[in-house]
Amino acid sequence: MKKIAVLTSGGDAPGMNACIRAIVKSCLHFDMQCIGIINGFQGLIDQKSCTLSYNDVNNIIQRGGTILGTARSKDFRTVEGRQKAIHYLKQLKVEALIVIGGDGSFTGAKTLSDEFDLPIIGIPGTIDNDIYGTDHTIGYDTALNTVIEAIDKIRDTASSHQRIFFIEVMGRDAGFIALNSAIASGAEAALIPEEITDIKELANNLKDLNKGQRSSIIIVAEGDDAGDAMTIMTKVQPFLPEFDLRCSVLGHLQRGGNPSAKDRIIATRMGAMAVDLLREGKTNLMIGVDGEKMVTCSIEDGIKKASIPNLKKLELLEQLRTKK
Ligand code: F6P
Repeated sequence: MKKIAVLTSGGDAPGMNACIRAIVKSCLHFDMQCIGIINGFQGLIDQKSCTLSYNDVNNIIQRGGTILGTARSKDFRTVEGRQKAIHYLKQLKVEALIVIGGDGSFTGAKTLSDEFDLPIIGIPGTIDNDIYGTDHTIGYDTALNTVIEAIDKIRDTASSHQRIFFIEVMGRDAGFIALNSAIASGAEAALIPEEITDIKELANNLKDLNKGQRSSIIIVAEGDDAGDAMTIMTKVQPFLPEFDLRCSVLGHLQRGGNPSAKDRIIATRMGAMAVDLLREGKTNLMIGVDGEKMVTCSIEDGIKKASIPNLKKLELLEQLRTKK
């Protein structure tokens, strides 16, 4: 194998650059060329790419975002769009493609490899951590730390004013960030898409709780079944007329920033492994981590199988907030 391509797709995640760096440097180590596709799958359609040199990836391990750019391409979902993408891949003469992204990105890669016999490797990169086959996705640890830092600051003002705060964090379909940031920040509860939210029960818990303490913090995953944080706060408010409620949406700040040590390490190991797998003639695999071990699963499993957080952690939150 002499020439491969890499792209980042879906939401960006801190550590994607560390992964690109490892892929490019591994390629150069094995005398291979690495083409960077600009703006994810959309770049294949728009014919945007560059040959990545050693110097192009120096000094990027510490940078958030992705130097290649990313997109959620609507065109790529059409047959015509994919034909254009295949035409460009043929023109580039690349022998394989590495896709860094979430399950939507892996679906794109799989479709491409089904329609045009191209070896592909998927690397999980999303702050949401909602990918089967890996303990951690690239970006999740950094996002979690960013969220905790923000919650700590909100706690200062919440307890000064004796307020109940509803803090919305990312996680369209999954509660990893909400649940684990709640535990790590000492929040009183987490509302996550994997568990039905009972507004009345939540209000009762808060009423009891706030008789004895200066603040309460409820972490709401944006994909919670009861609505976003503002909606939930509005639903709870009538049950708690005597309390002062506030809402804060953390938004896209969760996706930026320098990657944590953990994200840099898993991204670097995953990037290098992707090149190794392609050199061994492997395809249609997704890379993951299982503790300290690097593992793989089929890209189909990465797409189809669900990954849910450990729901026992909800019981842990309850145990720590209730006293007899
Ligand atoms: O990448 C995942 C994610 O951060 C989700 O948690 C969030 O719902 C979504 O991306 C937001 O995407 P966008 O930036 O395209 O609005």
